[in-house]
Amino acid sequence: MLFLVVLAVFGVQTADARIDPQYLPCAVHNGSDYVYSRTAANCLNVMSDSYCEIAYPKPTPDESRPAEGNDAQRSLMCYTLGDATPAPANADAESVAVASCPKTCGLCCLTSAYKCNNRVAPRVNCANVSKAMCLSPIWRQILAEDCPAECGFCDLNGCIDLVVGCENDPMICYTAGLEDFVNTNCRRTCNKCNVQPPCPGGGR
Ligand SMILES: *[C@@H]1O[C@H](CO)[C@@H](O)[C@H](O)[C@H]1NC(C)=O
Ligand SMILES: *[C@@H]1O[C@H](CO)[C@@H](O)[C@H](O)[C@H]1NC(C)=O
Repeated sequence: MLFLVVLAVFGVQTADARIDPQYLPCAVHNGSDYVYSRTAANCLNVMSDSYCEIAYPKPTPDESRPAEGNDAQRSLMCYTLGDATPAPANADAESVAVASCPKTCGLCCLTSAYKCNNRVAPRVNCANVSKAMCLSPIWRQILAEDCPAECGFCDLNGCIDLVVGCENDPMICYTAGLEDFVNTNCRRTCNKCNVQPPCPGGGR
């Protein structure tokens, strides 16, 4: 019996299609294989990573976790109620995984932060947006408006902090002398999206 189980596990591991072809959210076809998309695993887990490691065990111990461009087999618990294939995809299992461990499950693209449409005629090529651009003060405003689904900005309604980290210290919103800084850089955290940002260079 155990022997059969081991055989079954190896059968799955060496099968051609590593990502379950019956369950392909956050996957793209790269010409020869289904692989994870750019927005499959670029979010944070809601629960701790260590919790997610345990709650969503790897199908085999040396399997990789989903990451952009790889074809690691998902933890079956991410989308089924069973711990063996074939088990049908289950919407409740998926909802729980998206709400708790979207990164570990390679389901970031289903979280609300990534689940929206980019602007129809974006000013930049959304397909070319990199992780670095999503963090760059130069790019964040335009990406929040034009390519929100690439950076996980869907919940922001275009109101974004230009610099990452304002939310770590909300007291800066009330710090004397930092008014211009927060009006420009921490507009979301400090609730300044309706305030005209100060002119660059000041005196004009
Ligand atoms: C597609 O992805 C597979 C699995 O990661 C990889 O082995 C293969 O080289 C990729 N093909 C192309 C054309 O990128
Ligand atoms: C940007 O997009 C174009 C066309 O969509 C593609 O040919 C090019 O390789 C992309 N560049 C990067 C850095 O991804």
